[in-house]
Amino acid sequence: MMDRENLFDFDKNKSLPVNDYDIKARQLVPGYEAIFNIVLAFLRQRLPEQANLLIVGAGGGTELSVFGRSSQWQMTGVDPSAEMLSAASSKLEALDLSERVRLIQGTVDDVPSATSFNAATSILVMHFLPDDGSKLSFLKSIHKRLESRSPLFLVDFCSERNPEQFNRIFSAWKSHAIHAGVPVEFIEEQSEKILPHLPFVTEKRTTELLNEAGFAEIVQFYKALTYVGWMAIKS
Ligand SMILES: C[S@@+](CC[C@H](N)C(=O)[O-])C[C@H]1O[C@@H](n2cnc3c(N)ncnc32)[C@H](O)[C@@H]1O
Repeated sequence: MMDRENLFDFDKNKSLPVNDYDIKARQLVPGYEAIFNIVLAFLRQRLPEQANLLIVGAGGGTELSVFGRSSQWQMTGVDPSAEMLSAASSKLEALDLSERVRLIQGTVDDVPSATSFNAATSILVMHFLPDDGSKLSFLKSIHKRLESRSPLFLVDFCSERNPEQFNRIFSAWKSHAIHAGVPVEFIEEQSEKILPHLPFVTEKRTTELLNEAGFAEIVQFYKALTYVGWMAIKS
């Protein structure tokens, strides 16, 4: 039986196997691919040809592949999961992008703080961290590594906790996922065993945390059922 601590460890919790990640992510997150294309559009508007990106939660390799294919940017990808990083590494090799990417197994704190990045992303990561100071220190750690006026793109599972409001959206999420091909048993397992422990917060709390960590000019650029994305600028 999976203990609570390992629920969100991608190497230990086999309920979402890494070799199934690409398919499941697209089935579970409405508009999954659009997130990366929208972030890429912002990045292309804001960054010069030579730039340095920090990809937090880079495992799986979607950001690295989508951004790497369309630019000459250097990227540092950080992720604690060896298996998710290995999936990213295989994609980078297949796309011949390995030379422009540094992969670090660990958390943002393991990225040398002497490097200044021109942009950072945290896509579908921070909702796994508890709001006990961990989310705030995660955002501060990203902030510390960014050049002044650089953007952070943050996408998280976000919702009110009020059961009535939550269930109204969540029942549509379930229906969407089942229609996209996810087995009903998987959805039931996620809803009963995983979701109650997911330390997600509201949109209001997320923007408070961004402000507290030193980000401003917060713009929401994505919202699909329980998933919300913002761009925030290091002030
Ligand atoms: C749902 S996946 C998202 C992967 C990728 N960003 C995407 O959107 O496809 C979450 C990833 O965040 C990683 N992760 C969890 N805690 C983290 C942390 N504190 N810092 C960086 N990555 C973390 C997990 O290991 C996993 O690879």
